[in-house]
Amino acid sequence: MSVYQAEAIAQIVSAVEGTVYVTQPSKAVSSSFSTHFPDAQILIESNDPYSSVQNYLESSPQDEIVTVTTTGATVFKNLPFFSSKIFDSRRVVSHIELDSFDFSIVTSLRDLNFPVLISQSTAEAQLFASLAYNLAVKLNKAIFHFYTPATYKAETSIKSSQGVFLKNLEDLEVDQIAKELNVNAFEIVNKVSNAKDAILYLGQLTKELVDASTKENTLLISVKVYQPFEVSSLLSIIPSNVETLSLVQQSTTSTSFSPLLLDFFSSYSKYQSLKNFTKVVAATFGYLQSDKYESAVSNLLANVRSASPVQNLTFGKVNTELTTKSSKAKLEEQAKAISSAYVLEQAYVKLLQQVNPSNLHILNEYNAENIGLETNPEFGYGSFLYNQEQQQELISLVFKSIQDNTFQTTNNTALIELLTKWLVQVREGGVIDKKSVEEIVNLLKTDETTSTSSDILSLAEYFAVNTNWLVGSDAWAYDLGSSGVHNLIASGKNINMLVIDSEPYGEKSKSINGFRKKDIGLYAMNYGGCYVASVAIYSSYTQVLQAFIEAEKFNGPSIVLAYLPYNKETDSTLTILQETKKAVDSGYWPLYRYDPTIEDESKSFKLDSSNLRKQLQEFLERDNRLTLLAAKDPSLSRNLIANAGSEAKDKQKKIADESYAQLLQGLSGPPLTVAFASDGGNAEAVAKKVNRQALGRGLKSIVLAMDDLSVEDLPNETNVVFITSTSGQGEFPTNGKQFWDGVKNTTDLDLAAIKYSVFGLGDSQYWPRKEDKHYYNKPAKDLNAKLNIYGGVELAEIGLGDDQDPDGYNTGFNDWIAKIWTALGVDNVEGVEEPKPITNEDMKIGSNFLRGTIAEGLQDQSTGAISAVDQQLTKFHGIYMQDDRDIRDERKSQGLEPAYAFMVRLRLPGGKATPAQYLKMDELADVRGNGTIKLTTRATFQLHGIVKHDLKPAIRGMNSALLDTLAACGDVNRNVMISALPQNAKVHAQISDVGTLISEHLLPQTTAYHEIWLQGEDESDKPGDRETWETRKVGPTKKKTLVAGNALVDYEPLYGPTYLPRKFKIVITVPPFNDVDVYAHDIGLIAIVEDNIVTGFNLLAGGGMGSTHNNKKTYPRAASMFGYVSKDKVHIACEKIMLVQRDFGDRTNRKHARLKYTIDDLGVEVFKQKVEDLLDFKFEEPREFKIESNVDYFGWTKDELGFNHFTAFIENGRIEDTVELPQKTGLKKIAQYLNGGRSGEFRLTGNQHLLISNVEDVDLDHIKSLLSEYKLSNTDFSALRLSSAACVAFPTCGLAMAESERYLPELITKLEESLEDYGLRHDSIVMRMTGCPNGCARPWLAEVALVGKALGAYNLMLGGGHHGERLNKIYRYSIKEDEILDILKPLFKRWSLEREDGEHFGDFCVRVGVIKPTLEGRYFHDDIPEEA
Ligand SMILES: Cc1cc2nc3c(=O)[nH]c(=O)nc-3n(C[C@H](O)[C@H](O)[C@H](O)COP(=O)(O)O)c2cc1C
Ligand code: SF4
Repeated sequence: MSVYQAEAIAQIVSAVEGTVYVTQPSKAVSSSFSTHFPDAQILIESNDPYSSVQNYLESSPQDEIVTVTTTGATVFKNLPFFSSKIFDSRRVVSHIELDSFDFSIVTSLRDLNFPVLISQSTAEAQLFASLAYNLAVKLNKAIFHFYTPATYKAETSIKSSQGVFLKNLEDLEVDQIAKELNVNAFEIVNKVSNAKDAILYLGQLTKELVDASTKENTLLISVKVYQPFEVSSLLSIIPSNVETLSLVQQSTTSTSFSPLLLDFFSSYSKYQSLKNFTKVVAATFGYLQSDKYESAVSNLLANVRSASPVQNLTFGKVNTELTTKSSKAKLEEQAKAISSAYVLEQAYVKLLQQVNPSNLHILNEYNAENIGLETNPEFGYGSFLYNQEQQQELISLVFKSIQDNTFQTTNNTALIELLTKWLVQVREGGVIDKKSVEEIVNLLKTDETTSTSSDILSLAEYFAVNTNWLVGSDAWAYDLGSSGVHNLIASGKNINMLVIDSEPYGEKSKSINGFRKKDIGLYAMNYGGCYVASVAIYSSYTQVLQAFIEAEKFNGPSIVLAYLPYNKETDSTLTILQETKKAVDSGYWPLYRYDPTIEDESKSFKLDSSNLRKQLQEFLERDNRLTLLAAKDPSLSRNLIANAGSEAKDKQKKIADESYAQLLQGLSGPPLTVAFASDGGNAEAVAKKVNRQALGRGLKSIVLAMDDLSVEDLPNETNVVFITSTSGQGEFPTNGKQFWDGVKNTTDLDLAAIKYSVFGLGDSQYWPRKEDKHYYNKPAKDLNAKLNIYGGVELAEIGLGDDQDPDGYNTGFNDWIAKIWTALGVDNVEGVEEPKPITNEDMKIGSNFLRGTIAEGLQDQSTGAISAVDQQLTKFHGIYMQDDRDIRDERKSQGLEPAYAFMVRLRLPGGKATPAQYLKMDELADVRGNGTIKLTTRATFQLHGIVKHDLKPAIRGMNSALLDTLAACGDVNRNVMISALPQNAKVHAQISDVGTLISEHLLPQTTAYHEIWLQGEDESDKPGDRETWETRKVGPTKKKTLVAGNALVDYEPLYGPTYLPRKFKIVITVPPFNDVDVYAHDIGLIAIVEDNIVTGFNLLAGGGMGSTHNNKKTYPRAASMFGYVSKDKVHIACEKIMLVQRDFGDRTNRKHARLKYTIDDLGVEVFKQKVEDLLDFKFEEPREFKIESNVDYFGWTKDELGFNHFTAFIENGRIEDTVELPQKTGLKKIAQYLNGGRSGEFRLTGNQHLLISNVEDVDLDHIKSLLSEYKLSNTDFSALRLSSAACVAFPTCGLAMAESERYLPELITKLEESLEDYGLRHDSIVMRMTGCPNGCARPWLAEVALVGKALGAYNLMLGGGHHGERLNKIYRYSIKEDEILDILKPLFKRWSLEREDGEHFGDFCVRVGVIKPTLEGRYFHDDIPEEA
């Protein structure tokens, strides 16, 4: 309704410079102003918005104009703030929407001496807004402008506003200002002649009211300026024939007095000579339905015309709760938003409950009915004081009764003993034993004669001693700036407060300068005597837990500031997680704990953030105590100095620039700047190539990322070439986004003096649908067009490289670059030679058996990274360099290098670990990693987030538990994975031995691993660590080989110095199980078992998952059957296959280097023959086998030897603690228990789940209780979830194009609702997701698969075999969640209705023709549906 008014007012606000605040009911429910002012600062209505405005005013320039758009109810609740002097001396204009018919809000401002204006139509709203600003500037004080929905006049169109301020404002008096703007304090709104009665109306004008007054021939006067209330102006417009005056205020709350009457009579006597009314009567109009106005006006006038009229009559409904539909809807929306916020905040509250399940008392407990008073911390504090008082009374009573001993219970001795014990406990602040309290109460109840017992019983609820918490947050309503926090700290009482801050880091720049929640920490530490912690559950779960436990233990007030950033209450946990990471990483939200009782000051403040930066330094500097601490604690200062990183970087850059300038001086040709934007490195490589060639041609050329090129300095360049690839959906790559924003948003860029050209890299098939064609090379085209508009002169027309061209983007590049050289006059330069690019093969051969400069790189403290070549070589050591992509942009904007950290993967043949080994991984995850353990899709452990200086300690830690990481990645045979097989101990033992034999047999023999990671001493070593790995019989080689001439050298008998062309993977399965996906690997061994003895294996070869989007030369492939090999020879067969691949694999193109392509290129038979040529035996005919399932068997099972095994569901293999599932702690407890001399081990599955294996019957109950306590026992998930798998993807995998592990669980939840409806909850569908086509979670063998293309977009595959026996096929390209759900739900439904007996979903899709089957990898790209 008041959208028009909002628009009219917004026009004026936009024309006034200053700060704008918009209040809204919740983050998710916006106000009608939010759309007009996207950059305005949003304040939540329940959070005392005017307190924030007040804080802002205290630190902002005196003459700044501040606008607040808000609601009547908000103004009413914030009345106390307006008594602050600051509103009396600052230009604050509030535009207040009044849609509740409650004008008592207007009159509530009567004693505050601020001008109050009321407008009632669009035109008026615009005019009055103007008036408000003129008055604010003139008077230097706050102005309140109320506006109501216009219901008595038709809406007029808004005039375009020119200047808001009157030209001669300084010289005008206030009443002249109003006159100039044509605003009268009172206005007659109807036309009547010779009226005898007049109504002065302070309320919402309606057509019905105007008509009713006219009908009664009564003058209706509307109040336009309520303050100052100029009676003289009113009297001046009332004709002399009017005899009676009714002062009518509209109000939906009943009042016993009329402020209007007071306003009128306060100065009427002064002007009575002007106009003498026979009667002046006050009345109230409540809420009137439109047909009730007539009778109300008629009765009002009947009363005033009567001989002795009654004062203060009320017409219509008052005290009605909801007056208009829109306000009702708004309240409902608000309640919904608060409930959503409450759900989000449960992350903290639930943890509090876990810490203290029996004694937790949240004083301002929320429940759906009591939003308001009861959730206010001050209310909670009051109730705390009351409880304390009551308990004191109980203590005195008990004390006295014990002394008097007048009880008449069945066992007085026992009662007195219990009561004495209670007294002692309660006085010591100890935990009260609930059972004793129950006994006391029961005994007291047996006393029916004395009043002592009944007196005590009446206070029985205070026997309990709770830990008391107040919660302050968006959902729980808080009072931060003022009394809430202060009262608590000053009380010195044992009470805890959890303050949840939901302001996202991204919003911080908009934040008011005042009392931010995180600053409460400083305030509390300064005050003293208070435990303070700053925590973030999505950054460190453990730290929150520590803080809660410490706060509860602390005997005095505690404040825990908890971060939970969200933009909307409906935000997903993933968004919250990403926001949290940015805030913690940047130092905006530091994690710390402060306990004032610890005397050693350097220990009383514990900094838990792993990264400290500038903001934190500022934060610490603001407080003396902490600055002193920082000076005292060298580790703090060191960290802070490290944060001067960006300064050091600037310096480095300057030096580099200077040396570059020097270098260029030696060249004589024209200057050329090559600017690139690239995500994956192609555009960057092209740019560097252009630069090299330009230098070779004598040009003064430099190359840099586009974001390092200043938009302002662009006009000073001479020749610039821009090379950009295309990311996302036609978006600029990350390192060009900022530059592009600059170019796009500048209006006055004059590029007439520069010559430029743009080359784009894209893929015309990346978004294959017709309607998406414009995404092809979009950034390059957009940039080219803009540069053209700004007057730049083209060196050569835009060049476009297309991945689909025969030579990829080089096809377009070669044409384009030739034109550039011609344009620059250097096309005929001779002898420009391109150095050959360094390939992985070069790197391997030059690495001295995988050493490279890894050891030196580890010593370099100037960066968290290692060199590009070492990044390739460390893979062979099981180590990948990664960076946290969630905070990549943020760090870049701060001038910091990416948050580099390493992933370390174990070589874990057979996928099993002893409890001691598990405990070591658990410890290393916490101490060296990011606090989580990943179970991989190849059944090993992986740790993430290990920073460079922790790498060596982490690897040594693993080796101290006889775990190594050699060959876990790289171009070698990797971890050998075997079936988990919980049902059959004997067979599992045999395949485990074979797996270990193959792994050790094919292990690289380089001593580089031992030399780099294990040799010598390290301060992280624990006693005995070194002896453990030095005396280990297997694993990484420790000594070089002695060769002729007494030289010791590294020797790789199987690999040679160049190792394999690509990675190589081997797995073993035992039918009918296929939990390893036997068809997906280079070699798949299917065990043939006779009477529990493994006689040999059917050997499959040439499986592989990796492919590249839109590159049809790449494809996933299911392995081909080679035949049967006996058990004793199988490792030799594997070796020889590996050797043929070593010699025949394609080393020129890594996208074509896997065994699968070698086999397809040679043909299965030829390849097999080559293998047999190296063997002294032939592959036999494959033995019969039957595979039934590739999913895990969840829950408990017993093997034939009587050992118990439990397969736990670990979603996507991520072992971590969350509020809902504290699984990491649970598994640690289980490992600790089993480690105490019991039997038991951990087994990992290729589906990323975990078995607690070999548990003896005696330990079963204990393990079961631990499983249940830590929520590990639940396997009652939908069969879809149990059969699902996702790869890691964001934030750590550098290749991820879309989310995977963090998103699949959410998507499955959305599908599950429909599965329930179709009765499919228990029907397994193998569904997998990966963030890119490399296929780590083997998506190509799933019945349903989603493979990431760009953030939020996936290719959908259907038709894979349920047991992993058949590849799937692309069904739709690049679809988003809505489309995924729209496709899958109906398909699932159809399957539920039309499937044949026992028919799986993948087979069904093929049978009914939804998708064609992929019978061989080579044909994966054939028969894709046209509409895909
Ligand atoms: C996630 C992703 C999204 C892409 N989106 C587009 C696109 O919208 N339009 C296009 O023409 N090419 C698109 N491409 C293709 C790339 O621009 C192209 O492969 C280019 O060579 C990559 O260069 P870079 O390694 O410098 O980033 C996309 C590639 C990726 C990986
Ligand atoms: S499939 Fe791609 S995104 Fe996922 S982990 Fe593997 S490489 Fe990374």
